[in-house]
Amino acid sequence: MAGLSIAGLGVAAGGWILALAASSSAPAAPQIFTKSQVKAGQQVFLAHCAVCHGYQLQGKIGPALKGPAFADVWLTGKQNADSLFYVISTQMPFNAPGSLKTSQYLEALSYILSQNGLVPGKTAMTVALLKKTTLPKAP
Ligand code: HEC
Repeated sequence: MAGLSIAGLGVAAGGWILALAASSSAPAAPQIFTKSQVKAGQQVFLAHCAVCHGYQLQGKIGPALKGPAFADVWLTGKQNADSLFYVISTQMPFNAPGSLKTSQYLEALSYILSQNGLVPGKTAMTVALLKKTTLPKAP
């Protein structure tokens, strides 16, 4: 998309209109976790996930959990949040699947989503909320 609008700018004024229309029509992303979940999730992530996914979520033994590689799979606007939670809570940590508490998995997911540009709000993440949430397209 960035490439498209930059090309448009170089070629004609029409590119401006295209770029503006694209950015203003993005729907507001749902707020599905709180600030304190993000804070707790950072600790969970550092203790249980970072060794494989990298301290900056950049990927190591495990895949990157932020940036385009992650967004291309999960932040397409079509993935159910519950599917991502399912992967994390049943398959991670890869060397000890299901070993954390549900609250810790929710916190880790909150942290990962915050690192991908989603913003915290007043609503705390719960398993029930995830079941009815579609993950937004990457912001
Ligand atoms: C021992 C190493 C290891 C640890 C610890 C670990 N992971 Fe993973 N993780 C992996 C590997 C390897 C994969 C790829 C698995 C596959 O493709 O089957 C993966 C895949 C994932 C995926 C799917 C990524 C995608 O793009 O589909 C997510 C999400 C994830 N891990 C989150 C976590 C979280 C959250 C934690 C901490 C609670 C964690 N992982 C801990 C190794 C690890």
